[in-house]
Amino acid sequence: MKITYPENFVWGVAASAYQIEGAWNEDSKGPSIWDTFSHIFGKVAKGQNGDLAIDHYHRWQEDLDLMASLNIKSYRFSIAWTRILPTGRGAVNSPGLDFYDRLVDGCLKRGIEPVPCLFHYDLPQVLQDEGGGWKNRDTAYHFAEYARVVTDRLSDRVKIIMTHNEPWVTAFAGYVLGIHAPGEKHIFNGLKAAHHVMLSHGLAAEAIRASARKPVKVGITLNLSPVYPATHLKLDFQAAERVHAIVNRITLDPLLLGITPLTENWFAKWFAPAFIKPGDLEKIKSLDLLGVNYYSRSVMEFGFQHFPLFAVEVKPADSEYSEMWEIYPPGMYDLLKRIWDDYYIPVSKQGIAMPELMVTENGVPVIDVLDADGQVHDERRILYLRDHLEQIHKAIQAGVDVKGYYVWSFTDNFEWSLGYGPRFGLIHINYDSLKRRIKESGKWYSSVIAENGFDTGE
Ligand code: GCO
Repeated sequence: MKITYPENFVWGVAASAYQIEGAWNEDSKGPSIWDTFSHIFGKVAKGQNGDLAIDHYHRWQEDLDLMASLNIKSYRFSIAWTRILPTGRGAVNSPGLDFYDRLVDGCLKRGIEPVPCLFHYDLPQVLQDEGGGWKNRDTAYHFAEYARVVTDRLSDRVKIIMTHNEPWVTAFAGYVLGIHAPGEKHIFNGLKAAHHVMLSHGLAAEAIRASARKPVKVGITLNLSPVYPATHLKLDFQAAERVHAIVNRITLDPLLLGITPLTENWFAKWFAPAFIKPGDLEKIKSLDLLGVNYYSRSVMEFGFQHFPLFAVEVKPADSEYSEMWEIYPPGMYDLLKRIWDDYYIPVSKQGIAMPELMVTENGVPVIDVLDADGQVHDERRILYLRDHLEQIHKAIQAGVDVKGYYVWSFTDNFEWSLGYGPRFGLIHINYDSLKRRIKESGKWYSSVIAENGFDTGE
């Protein structure tokens, strides 16, 4: 059966600065917390780092040519704050701005819509050293100033500016779990960081709207995961909902409703008033485009492990797993449907306009091999993308207005603390020669774009 997507459906690819650019200390770029973190032995697999990455900083033209050859319509990339403001605030570094200026022009010249994102984990090291990074409320104000500088330069050509990528990960992986830079482990600081990141979205949205030369949509990208109870027991259901609150609602509620679940969690509610100031939540609720990143689901049961959630993750035994996560395509439908039912339908009923909805990341790490014919036959990735796209189609049929889809990622790249191990790309990278090679999945995606759909084979 052939399925097709709505007219003007946006077909894109996504990437982020630290994962691809390299050139970590060129053209007066300042150090970010990821430069520091990845240079500490033991933080990243095999001692790898993003110093060179895939050298996109120098090879961006080749990369955009490849993108155009696959017919890709939109490129979601991130801007390295430390290229623009090497110390996070203060003097603007022109060569840094010039780079993104050329990148934006390069996209437009090739008929690709550039979608810059202001933050993808690479906080200026100076802001971390001086004030504690996202634990410090001042960082949110510095971020808004950075947003203003970028808007001033790019808003005559870009139509969308995304503020943050996965704020939950910024706060929890960086300040609670310690697996991302800056590598801290402190629940209270993590909750505080989470709020400051969200506040910075609101402040940046205000700055973008005030300084844009032409109307620009303000977006954000969230890592969301549908949370399922392991059994029908009420205790498991409640555990799943507690996790849903702290992983999904923590960002969705302030953005879409102007409220926060932090004041209802029995533990967090004692601390939240210390950092959530009057007026903050109203500020955060400012959004034109909601980006959803979906990779996998969570299954939870009641237990004593994750204080203060009292929820334990269960790994379903009869499921298939990629190198990183369970592969569960129906989760895409369930997630989109729940967001629609919990937020979009009730708020729209009050006559309030809701942000556009897109899937801004989806993809899978596969152990890719270069076959004798010099090709990468990554059938498992094609199947993954196809299955997830089918679920999006099903959600659209059920009334969820999904406007676009971005594959993570355009090329293989630096997968944070896992280094260059997991490969997510539609383009294969030889990490010795940095040669780019289109995988079978890249060709497949290109045909999907050309036909605005595909044959499900059923
Ligand atoms: C993000 C993600 C990406 C990852 C991808 C695979 O924040 O958008 O962390 O940077 O590379 O999700 O894990």
